[in-house]
Amino acid sequence: MTVKTANDIRLMTEACQLAARTLDHVAKYVKAGVTTNELDQIVYDYTMSHEATPAPLNYKGYPKSICTSVNDCICHGLPDDTPLKDGDIVNVDVTTIKHGFHGDTSRTFIIGDVPSSTAHLVDSAKKAMERGIEAIEPGGTTGDIGFAINKFVTRKGFYVVEEIGGHGIGRNFHEDPFVPSFGKKGRGDRLLTWGTITVEPMLNETSVPIREFDIPKSEIKYYLTGDQSLSAQFEHTVLITDTGYEILTLP
Ligand code: MF3
Ligand code: CO
Ligand code: CO
Repeated sequence: MTVKTANDIRLMTEACQLAARTLDHVAKYVKAGVTTNELDQIVYDYTMSHEATPAPLNYKGYPKSICTSVNDCICHGLPDDTPLKDGDIVNVDVTTIKHGFHGDTSRTFIIGDVPSSTAHLVDSAKKAMERGIEAIEPGGTTGDIGFAINKFVTRKGFYVVEEIGGHGIGRNFHEDPFVPSFGKKGRGDRLLTWGTITVEPMLNETSVPIREFDIPKSEIKYYLTGDQSLSAQFEHTVLITDTGYEILTLP
């Protein structure tokens, strides 16, 4: 984990705030009938007009400005020309580079009417992220975060994705440490004061093993649930402070 200076934190906060505002902006367009390619274009235009860069674009060959993960897509879904429809859920994941620093945040949106079980999954994913963030303490570890997330998710009757998770972030999109959605208190990597990480649990309805797929000409893979059941996720970028934490991507 890279420790930031006061000036780094000022610049990083600007990047994170722009990511949050971008997600708020695109949120207005997330409804039945819109294609995920249209959402991608909206984020591209908004980011460029704010003297910033969409981090996913050309990152390890990834061809779009955002990830849009619909229904059984767990993460890294590629925007396309399929319109969203009533009953879908979609995670929109925005990462913005400004002043050389990254801000990474995502939300899962509900399109129209969904069964109460789906609403419960999405609500639990948001709360799981919050529980993980609240477990951050100076001198704590990534295992504290994972433990808090998995304890909550298990209690709700859902399953965390173990293969993918949060990460250190800063001048690079993905830095050490890996921030798991499971673990033991006090285990894993030490959280350093003035370090920045993402907390981004992915929740599945079932424990069926996930499936990995290639994105053409890219090192990035996308992931689907093993049985076409739903998956939901929320993400914030968080600063570890001398007294606890600060969520940098709160709008
Ligand atoms: N934003 C994703 C994350 O939370 C990473 C996307 S990588 C991409 O870590 F290449 F697919 F954009
Ligand atoms: Co992330
Ligand atoms: Co992200």
